[in-house]
Amino acid sequence: MTTMPTTDLTEVAARLDADDPLAHLRDRFLLPPDVVYLDGNSLGPLPAAVPPVLTDVVTRQWGTDLIGSWNGNGWWEAPLRVGDAIGALIGAAPGQTVAGDSTSVQLHTALHAAASLRPDRALLVTDPDHFPTDRYVAAAVAERRGLEVLRVSPADLSGFLRTEGDRVAVVSYSPVDFRTGELYDMRGVTQDAHRAGALVLWDLCHAAGALPVELDALGVDLAVGCGYKFLSGGPGAPAYLYVAHRHHRDLRTPVPGWTGHADPFGLGRDYAPAPGIARARIGTPPILSLLALEAALTVYDGVDLAEVRAKSLSLTGFLLRCADELLTPLGFASVTPSDPGRRGSQVSLRHPHAHALTRALADRGVIADMRAPDLLRFGVNALYTTHRELLTAAWCLRDIAAEAAYDPNPRGRGPVT
Ligand SMILES: Cc1ncc(COP(=O)(O)O)c(C=O)c1O
Repeated sequence: MTTMPTTDLTEVAARLDADDPLAHLRDRFLLPPDVVYLDGNSLGPLPAAVPPVLTDVVTRQWGTDLIGSWNGNGWWEAPLRVGDAIGALIGAAPGQTVAGDSTSVQLHTALHAAASLRPDRALLVTDPDHFPTDRYVAAAVAERRGLEVLRVSPADLSGFLRTEGDRVAVVSYSPVDFRTGELYDMRGVTQDAHRAGALVLWDLCHAAGALPVELDALGVDLAVGCGYKFLSGGPGAPAYLYVAHRHHRDLRTPVPGWTGHADPFGLGRDYAPAPGIARARIGTPPILSLLALEAALTVYDGVDLAEVRAKSLSLTGFLLRCADELLTPLGFASVTPSDPGRRGSQVSLRHPHAHALTRALADRGVIADMRAPDLLRFGVNALYTTHRELLTAAWCLRDIAAEAAYDPNPRGRGPVT
Protein backbone atom coordinates (compact mmCIF):
# COMPACT_ATOMS: atom_id res chain seq x y z
CA MET A 1 0.00 0.00 0.00
CA THR A 2 1.26 3.44 -0.87
CA THR A 3 0.77 6.01 1.88
CA MET A 4 -0.52 9.44 0.93
CA PRO A 5 1.76 12.46 1.11
CA THR A 6 1.35 15.39 3.44
CA THR A 7 2.35 17.99 0.85
CA ASP A 8 0.24 19.55 -1.87
CA LEU A 9 1.97 17.55 -4.61
CA THR A 10 -1.28 15.74 -5.39
CA GLU A 11 -3.04 19.01 -6.13
CA VAL A 12 -0.13 20.35 -8.15
CA ALA A 13 -0.06 17.21 -10.30
CA ALA A 14 -3.82 17.36 -10.84
CA ARG A 15 -3.69 21.02 -11.86
CA LEU A 16 -0.76 20.55 -14.25
CA ASP A 17 -2.42 17.53 -15.87
CA ALA A 18 -5.75 19.35 -16.18
CA ASP A 19 -4.00 22.23 -17.97
CA ASP A 20 -1.96 19.96 -20.27
CA PRO A 21 -2.55 20.91 -23.93
CA LEU A 22 -0.92 17.64 -25.09
CA ALA A 23 -2.98 15.29 -22.91
CA HIS A 24 -4.94 13.95 -25.90
CA LEU A 25 -1.73 12.58 -27.47
CA ARG A 26 -1.57 9.77 -24.93
CA ASP A 27 -4.31 8.02 -26.96
CA ARG A 28 -1.81 7.64 -29.78
CA PHE A 29 0.01 4.99 -27.70
CA LEU A 30 -1.07 1.52 -26.57
CA LEU A 31 0.22 1.75 -23.01
CA PRO A 32 -0.58 -1.21 -20.76
CA PRO A 33 -3.00 -0.37 -17.94
CA ASP A 34 -1.63 -0.14 -14.40
CA VAL A 35 1.91 0.54 -15.58
CA VAL A 36 3.78 3.80 -15.13
CA TYR A 37 6.18 3.74 -18.04
CA LEU A 38 9.24 5.91 -17.48
CA ASP A 39 11.63 4.09 -19.78
CA GLY A 40 10.64 5.60 -23.12
CA ASN A 41 14.14 7.10 -23.27
CA SER A 42 15.34 3.53 -23.72
CA LEU A 43 12.50 1.79 -25.57
CA GLY A 44 9.49 3.87 -26.55
CA PRO A 45 6.07 2.24 -26.06
CA LEU A 46 3.95 0.93 -28.94
CA PRO A 47 2.15 3.63 -30.96
CA ALA A 48 -1.42 2.70 -31.88
CA ALA A 49 -0.67 3.39 -35.55
CA VAL A 50 1.93 0.62 -35.78
CA PRO A 51 0.00 -2.70 -35.56
CA PRO A 52 -2.41 -2.02 -38.46
CA VAL A 53 0.42 -0.78 -40.67
CA LEU A 54 2.58 -3.80 -39.87
CA THR A 55 -0.34 -6.11 -40.53
CA ASP A 56 -0.81 -4.51 -43.94
CA VAL A 57 2.92 -4.61 -44.71
CA VAL A 58 3.14 -8.30 -43.85
CA THR A 59 -0.10 -9.66 -45.23
CA ARG A 60 -0.84 -7.48 -48.24
CA GLN A 61 2.45 -5.89 -49.29
CA TRP A 62 4.74 -8.84 -48.62
CA GLY A 63 2.14 -11.63 -48.66
CA THR A 64 0.26 -10.62 -51.81
CA ASP A 65 2.18 -7.98 -53.71
CA LEU A 66 5.49 -9.76 -53.11
CA ILE A 67 8.52 -8.34 -54.89
CA GLY A 68 6.37 -5.81 -56.73
CA SER A 69 6.24 -3.92 -53.43
CA TRP A 70 9.71 -2.48 -53.97
CA ASN A 71 8.11 -0.11 -56.44
CA GLY A 72 4.37 -0.62 -55.95
CA ASN A 73 4.38 -0.03 -52.19
CA GLY A 74 7.29 2.39 -52.01
CA TRP A 75 9.76 0.05 -50.33
CA TRP A 76 12.74 1.21 -52.36
CA GLU A 77 12.36 4.84 -51.35
CA ALA A 78 11.55 4.04 -47.70
CA PRO A 79 15.02 4.85 -46.26
CA LEU A 80 14.88 8.35 -47.75
CA ARG A 81 11.17 8.88 -47.06
CA VAL A 82 11.50 7.83 -43.42
CA GLY A 83 14.72 9.83 -43.20
CA ASP A 84 12.83 12.95 -44.25
CA ALA A 85 10.09 12.23 -41.70
CA ILE A 86 12.76 12.09 -38.98
CA GLY A 87 14.41 15.14 -40.51
CA ALA A 88 11.22 17.11 -39.89
CA LEU A 89 11.70 16.46 -36.15
CA ILE A 90 15.36 17.48 -36.03
CA GLY A 91 15.27 20.64 -38.12
CA ALA A 92 16.58 19.03 -41.30
CA ALA A 93 15.16 20.05 -44.67
CA PRO A 94 14.31 17.09 -46.94
CA GLY A 95 17.08 15.23 -48.74
CA GLN A 96 19.66 15.17 -45.93
CA THR A 97 18.59 12.28 -43.71
CA VAL A 98 18.60 8.56 -44.45
CA ALA A 99 17.12 5.89 -42.17
CA GLY A 100 18.61 2.44 -41.73
CA ASP A 101 21.10 0.26 -39.86
CA SER A 102 21.92 0.87 -36.20
CA THR A 103 23.23 3.99 -34.52
CA SER A 104 26.59 2.28 -34.09
CA VAL A 105 26.83 1.66 -37.85
CA GLN A 106 25.69 5.18 -38.68
CA LEU A 107 28.26 6.60 -36.27
CA HIS A 108 30.95 4.59 -37.98
CA THR A 109 29.81 5.95 -41.36
CA ALA A 110 29.61 9.51 -40.04
CA LEU A 111 33.04 9.51 -38.38
CA HIS A 112 34.74 8.01 -41.43
CA ALA A 113 32.99 10.52 -43.67
CA ALA A 114 33.98 13.41 -41.39
CA ALA A 115 37.61 12.29 -41.41
CA SER A 116 37.53 12.17 -45.23
CA LEU A 117 36.08 15.67 -45.35
CA ARG A 118 38.98 17.01 -43.21
CA PRO A 119 41.91 14.92 -44.54
CA ASP A 120 44.58 17.29 -43.26
CA ARG A 121 43.52 17.10 -39.60
CA ALA A 122 44.62 14.38 -37.19
CA LEU A 123 42.35 14.70 -34.13
CA LEU A 124 38.97 13.26 -33.43
CA VAL A 125 37.50 14.80 -30.26
CA THR A 126 34.78 13.18 -28.21
CA ASP A 127 33.21 13.21 -24.74
CA PRO A 128 34.96 10.99 -22.15
CA ASP A 129 31.46 10.22 -20.80
CA HIS A 130 29.88 9.60 -24.19
CA PHE A 131 27.72 6.49 -24.62
CA PRO A 132 30.04 3.44 -24.91
CA THR A 133 29.38 2.75 -28.60
CA ASP A 134 30.32 6.34 -29.45
CA ARG A 135 33.64 5.95 -27.62
CA TYR A 136 34.39 2.52 -29.05
CA VAL A 137 33.57 3.51 -32.63
CA ALA A 138 35.61 6.72 -32.36
CA ALA A 139 38.62 4.70 -31.17
CA ALA A 140 38.21 2.16 -33.97
CA VAL A 141 37.81 4.78 -36.71
CA ALA A 142 40.84 6.67 -35.42
CA GLU A 143 42.93 3.51 -35.38
CA ARG A 144 41.96 2.57 -38.92
CA ARG A 145 42.60 6.04 -40.30
CA GLY A 146 45.76 6.81 -38.36
CA LEU A 147 44.05 9.53 -36.31
CA GLU A 148 44.19 10.27 -32.62
CA VAL A 149 41.14 10.38 -30.31
CA LEU A 150 41.13 13.01 -27.59
CA ARG A 151 38.49 12.86 -24.88
CA VAL A 152 37.49 16.33 -23.80
CA SER A 153 34.51 17.00 -21.54
CA PRO A 154 31.90 19.42 -22.93
CA ALA A 155 32.81 21.95 -20.23
CA ASP A 156 36.44 22.05 -21.43
CA LEU A 157 35.78 21.89 -25.17
CA SER A 158 35.70 25.59 -25.92
CA GLY A 159 39.10 26.23 -24.31
CA PHE A 160 40.57 23.14 -25.93
CA LEU A 161 39.44 24.20 -29.39
CA ARG A 162 40.91 27.67 -28.91
CA THR A 163 44.39 26.18 -28.53
CA GLU A 164 44.27 22.89 -30.47
CA GLY A 165 41.33 23.48 -32.81
CA ASP A 166 43.30 23.67 -36.02
CA ARG A 167 44.28 20.00 -35.60
CA VAL A 168 40.70 18.78 -35.05
CA ALA A 169 38.81 17.05 -37.87
CA VAL A 170 35.55 16.47 -36.03
CA VAL A 171 34.02 16.87 -32.59
CA SER A 172 31.50 14.19 -31.69
CA TYR A 173 29.07 14.78 -28.82
CA SER A 174 25.54 14.13 -27.62
CA PRO A 175 23.32 17.07 -26.71
CA VAL A 176 21.96 15.08 -23.74
CA ASP A 177 24.08 13.08 -21.31
CA PHE A 178 22.54 9.60 -21.22
CA ARG A 179 23.39 9.14 -17.55
CA THR A 180 22.53 12.47 -15.95
CA GLY A 181 20.09 13.96 -18.45
CA GLU A 182 22.19 17.12 -18.66
CA LEU A 183 21.55 19.15 -21.82
CA TYR A 184 24.60 20.70 -23.44
CA ASP A 185 24.80 23.83 -25.54
CA MET A 186 24.42 22.54 -29.12
CA ARG A 187 24.71 25.99 -30.60
CA GLY A 188 27.84 26.90 -28.63
CA VAL A 189 29.63 23.62 -29.36
CA THR A 190 28.74 23.81 -33.05
CA GLN A 191 29.99 27.40 -33.30
CA ASP A 192 33.21 26.61 -31.41
CA ALA A 193 33.91 23.65 -33.70
CA HIS A 194 33.29 25.70 -36.82
CA ARG A 195 35.41 28.59 -35.60
CA ALA A 196 38.25 26.05 -35.38
CA GLY A 197 37.51 24.78 -38.88
CA ALA A 198 36.37 21.40 -37.53
CA LEU A 199 33.18 19.52 -38.32
CA VAL A 200 30.57 18.68 -35.70
CA LEU A 201 28.75 15.36 -35.35
CA TRP A 202 25.83 15.06 -32.91
CA ASP A 203 24.39 11.83 -31.54
CA LEU A 204 20.71 12.70 -31.15
CA CYS A 205 19.53 9.44 -29.52
CA HIS A 206 18.35 11.24 -26.37
CA ALA A 207 17.21 14.44 -28.02
CA ALA A 208 15.25 13.65 -31.20
CA GLY A 209 11.53 13.79 -30.54
CA ALA A 210 12.09 14.99 -26.97
CA LEU A 211 13.03 18.59 -27.68
CA PRO A 212 13.37 20.89 -30.67
CA VAL A 213 16.62 20.28 -32.56
CA GLU A 214 17.61 22.70 -35.33
CA LEU A 215 20.31 20.97 -37.35
CA ASP A 216 20.06 23.17 -40.46
CA ALA A 217 19.67 26.41 -38.53
CA LEU A 218 22.69 25.63 -36.34
CA GLY A 219 24.78 24.66 -39.36
CA VAL A 220 25.48 21.15 -38.01
CA ASP A 221 27.56 18.98 -40.34
CA LEU A 222 26.52 15.44 -39.41
CA ALA A 223 24.17 13.77 -36.96
CA VAL A 224 23.02 10.28 -36.08
CA GLY A 225 20.35 8.87 -33.81
CA CYS A 226 18.24 5.84 -33.08
CA GLY A 227 14.59 5.15 -33.85
CA TYR A 228 13.57 3.26 -30.73
CA LYS A 229 13.74 5.77 -27.87
CA PHE A 230 11.59 8.92 -28.02
CA LEU A 231 10.68 8.12 -31.64
CA SER A 232 9.02 4.88 -30.46
CA GLY A 233 9.87 2.93 -33.60
CA GLY A 234 10.15 -0.39 -31.75
CA PRO A 235 12.96 -2.61 -30.53
CA GLY A 236 15.93 -2.37 -32.88
CA ALA A 237 14.19 0.26 -35.01
CA PRO A 238 16.41 1.65 -37.77
CA ALA A 239 18.73 4.51 -36.90
CA TYR A 240 19.42 7.52 -39.12
CA LEU A 241 22.21 9.62 -40.52
CA TYR A 242 22.01 13.33 -41.34
CA VAL A 243 24.59 14.97 -43.56
CA ALA A 244 24.20 18.64 -44.47
CA HIS A 245 23.61 19.31 -48.18
CA ARG A 246 26.92 21.17 -48.55
CA HIS A 247 28.88 18.00 -47.80
CA HIS A 248 27.07 15.62 -50.16
CA ARG A 249 29.29 16.08 -53.18
CA ASP A 250 32.43 15.08 -51.29
CA LEU A 251 30.81 12.53 -48.99
CA ARG A 252 32.70 9.23 -48.94
CA THR A 253 31.28 6.36 -46.88
CA PRO A 254 33.26 3.39 -45.56
CA VAL A 255 30.80 0.72 -46.75
CA PRO A 256 29.93 1.44 -50.40
CA GLY A 257 26.98 -0.90 -50.68
CA TRP A 258 25.03 -1.39 -53.86
CA THR A 259 21.92 0.53 -52.76
CA GLY A 260 24.04 3.69 -52.45
CA HIS A 261 25.25 3.33 -56.04
CA ALA A 262 24.29 5.96 -58.62
CA ASP A 263 22.78 3.21 -60.76
CA PRO A 264 21.99 0.36 -58.36
CA PHE A 265 20.26 -1.78 -60.96
CA GLY A 266 22.92 -1.21 -63.62
CA LEU A 267 25.12 -3.70 -61.74
CA GLY A 268 28.24 -1.79 -62.82
CA ARG A 269 31.68 -3.16 -62.10
CA ASP A 270 32.85 -0.25 -59.98
CA TYR A 271 31.23 1.82 -57.29
CA ALA A 272 29.92 5.24 -58.22
CA PRO A 273 28.09 7.04 -55.41
CA ALA A 274 24.51 8.18 -55.91
CA PRO A 275 23.88 11.90 -55.80
CA GLY A 276 22.77 13.36 -52.49
CA ILE A 277 22.19 11.56 -49.22
CA ALA A 278 21.21 8.40 -51.16
CA ARG A 279 24.94 7.62 -51.33
CA ALA A 280 24.83 6.89 -47.60
CA ARG A 281 22.51 3.93 -48.19
CA ILE A 282 24.33 0.64 -47.76
CA GLY A 283 22.42 -2.60 -48.35
CA THR A 284 18.85 -3.87 -48.62
CA PRO A 285 16.81 -1.88 -46.09
CA PRO A 286 14.94 -3.61 -43.21
CA ILE A 287 11.49 -2.88 -44.60
CA LEU A 288 9.36 -4.25 -41.74
CA SER A 289 11.23 -2.17 -39.18
CA LEU A 290 11.40 0.88 -41.41
CA LEU A 291 7.68 0.89 -42.05
CA ALA A 292 6.93 0.32 -38.36
CA LEU A 293 9.10 3.35 -37.60
CA GLU A 294 7.35 5.37 -40.29
CA ALA A 295 3.98 4.57 -38.73
CA ALA A 296 5.33 5.37 -35.26
CA LEU A 297 6.44 8.82 -36.36
CA THR A 298 2.81 9.76 -37.05
CA VAL A 299 2.43 10.28 -33.29
CA TYR A 300 4.07 13.65 -34.04
CA ASP A 301 1.48 14.65 -36.67
CA GLY A 302 0.35 18.20 -35.88
CA VAL A 303 2.52 18.33 -32.75
CA ASP A 304 4.58 21.42 -31.99
CA LEU A 305 7.94 20.39 -30.52
CA ALA A 306 8.08 23.65 -28.58
CA GLU A 307 4.99 22.45 -26.71
CA VAL A 308 6.59 19.04 -26.21
CA ARG A 309 9.61 20.77 -24.71
CA ALA A 310 7.48 22.95 -22.43
CA LYS A 311 5.61 19.95 -21.08
CA SER A 312 8.76 17.87 -20.77
CA LEU A 313 10.29 20.60 -18.60
CA SER A 314 7.14 20.78 -16.52
CA LEU A 315 7.31 17.00 -16.00
CA THR A 316 11.01 16.84 -15.15
CA GLY A 317 10.70 19.94 -12.96
CA PHE A 318 7.81 18.34 -11.09
CA LEU A 319 9.69 15.07 -10.67
CA LEU A 320 12.69 16.95 -9.29
CA ARG A 321 10.38 18.63 -6.80
CA CYS A 322 8.88 15.26 -5.80
CA ALA A 323 12.41 13.88 -5.39
CA ASP A 324 13.43 16.83 -3.30
CA GLU A 325 10.44 16.55 -0.96
CA LEU A 326 10.01 12.78 -0.78
CA LEU A 327 13.31 11.13 -1.64
CA THR A 328 16.23 13.33 -0.64
CA PRO A 329 15.54 12.67 3.05
CA LEU A 330 15.95 8.94 2.26
CA GLY A 331 19.42 9.21 0.73
CA PHE A 332 18.60 9.92 -2.93
CA ALA A 333 20.51 12.70 -4.69
CA SER A 334 19.50 14.19 -8.02
CA VAL A 335 22.28 14.45 -10.60
CA THR A 336 20.05 16.17 -13.17
CA PRO A 337 20.46 19.95 -13.45
CA SER A 338 17.65 21.92 -11.83
CA ASP A 339 18.21 24.69 -14.42
CA PRO A 340 15.59 23.92 -17.12
CA GLY A 341 17.92 25.19 -19.83
CA ARG A 342 20.40 22.46 -18.94
CA ARG A 343 17.94 19.55 -18.68
CA GLY A 344 16.95 16.99 -21.29
CA SER A 345 13.87 14.81 -20.86
CA GLN A 346 14.95 12.58 -18.00
CA VAL A 347 15.69 12.77 -14.28
CA SER A 348 18.44 10.68 -12.74
CA LEU A 349 18.75 9.98 -9.04
CA ARG A 350 21.82 8.60 -7.34
CA HIS A 351 21.40 5.87 -4.74
CA PRO A 352 23.79 3.04 -3.81
CA HIS A 353 21.02 0.46 -4.34
CA ALA A 354 19.85 1.79 -7.71
CA HIS A 355 19.72 -1.65 -9.29
CA ALA A 356 17.66 -3.22 -6.49
CA LEU A 357 15.34 -0.23 -6.28
CA THR A 358 14.69 -0.31 -10.03
CA ARG A 359 13.72 -3.96 -9.74
CA ALA A 360 11.44 -3.28 -6.77
CA LEU A 361 9.79 -0.40 -8.65
CA ALA A 362 9.15 -2.66 -11.63
CA ASP A 363 7.48 -5.19 -9.30
CA ARG A 364 5.04 -2.39 -8.40
CA GLY A 365 4.36 -1.44 -12.01
CA VAL A 366 6.72 1.52 -12.27
CA ILE A 367 9.15 0.91 -15.12
CA ALA A 368 12.30 2.99 -14.94
CA ASP A 369 15.88 1.86 -15.50
CA MET A 370 19.34 2.24 -14.06
CA ARG A 371 22.85 2.92 -15.22
CA ALA A 372 25.73 1.35 -13.36
CA PRO A 373 26.78 1.74 -10.74
CA ASP A 374 24.25 3.86 -8.88
CA LEU A 375 21.89 5.90 -11.09
CA LEU A 376 18.14 5.41 -11.36
CA ARG A 377 16.87 6.94 -14.60
CA PHE A 378 13.34 8.23 -15.18
CA GLY A 379 12.62 9.13 -18.78
CA VAL A 380 9.58 11.28 -19.44
CA ASN A 381 7.88 11.61 -22.80
CA ALA A 382 5.58 14.62 -23.03
CA LEU A 383 3.40 12.77 -25.54
CA TYR A 384 2.08 10.41 -22.87
CA THR A 385 3.63 10.91 -19.41
CA THR A 386 1.48 12.63 -16.77
CA HIS A 387 2.52 14.52 -13.65
CA ARG A 388 0.34 12.19 -11.63
CA GLU A 389 2.36 9.21 -12.87
CA LEU A 390 5.54 10.87 -11.71
CA LEU A 391 4.05 11.41 -8.27
CA THR A 392 3.00 7.76 -8.16
CA ALA A 393 6.56 6.74 -9.06
CA ALA A 394 8.01 8.99 -6.35
CA TRP A 395 5.59 7.63 -3.74
CA CYS A 396 6.46 4.06 -4.69
CA LEU A 397 10.16 4.74 -4.48
CA ARG A 398 9.78 6.50 -1.17
CA ASP A 399 7.81 3.59 0.29
CA ILE A 400 10.23 0.97 -1.03
CA ALA A 401 13.23 2.86 0.34
CA ALA A 402 11.60 3.75 3.67
CA GLU A 403 10.56 0.15 4.26
CA ALA A 404 13.79 -1.23 2.74
CA ALA A 405 11.40 -3.37 0.66
CA TYR A 406 14.00 -4.50 -1.85
CA ASP A 407 16.61 -7.16 -2.23
CA PRO A 408 19.92 -5.28 -1.87
CA ASN A 409 21.69 -7.97 -3.93
CA PRO A 410 19.34 -8.79 -6.79
CA ARG A 411 20.44 -11.58 -9.09
CA GLY A 412 21.40 -10.92 -12.66
CA ARG A 413 22.51 -7.73 -14.27
CA GLY A 414 20.63 -4.48 -14.27
CA PRO A 415 18.36 -3.62 -17.15
CA VAL A 416 20.61 -2.00 -19.72
CA THR A 417 18.61 -1.78 -22.93
C1 LIG B 1 23.57 8.00 -27.02
C2 LIG B 1 23.54 6.64 -27.65
N1 LIG B 1 24.28 6.41 -28.74
C3 LIG B 1 24.29 5.20 -29.34
C4 LIG B 1 23.55 4.14 -28.83
C5 LIG B 1 23.64 2.79 -29.49
O1 LIG B 1 22.71 2.64 -30.47
P1 LIG B 1 22.57 1.28 -31.32
O2 LIG B 1 22.36 0.20 -30.34
O3 LIG B 1 21.37 1.57 -32.17
O4 LIG B 1 23.79 1.08 -32.12
C6 LIG B 1 22.73 4.36 -27.73
C7 LIG B 1 21.90 3.26 -27.19
O5 LIG B 1 21.26 3.33 -26.19
C8 LIG B 1 22.73 5.64 -27.10
O6 LIG B 1 22.01 5.87 -26.02
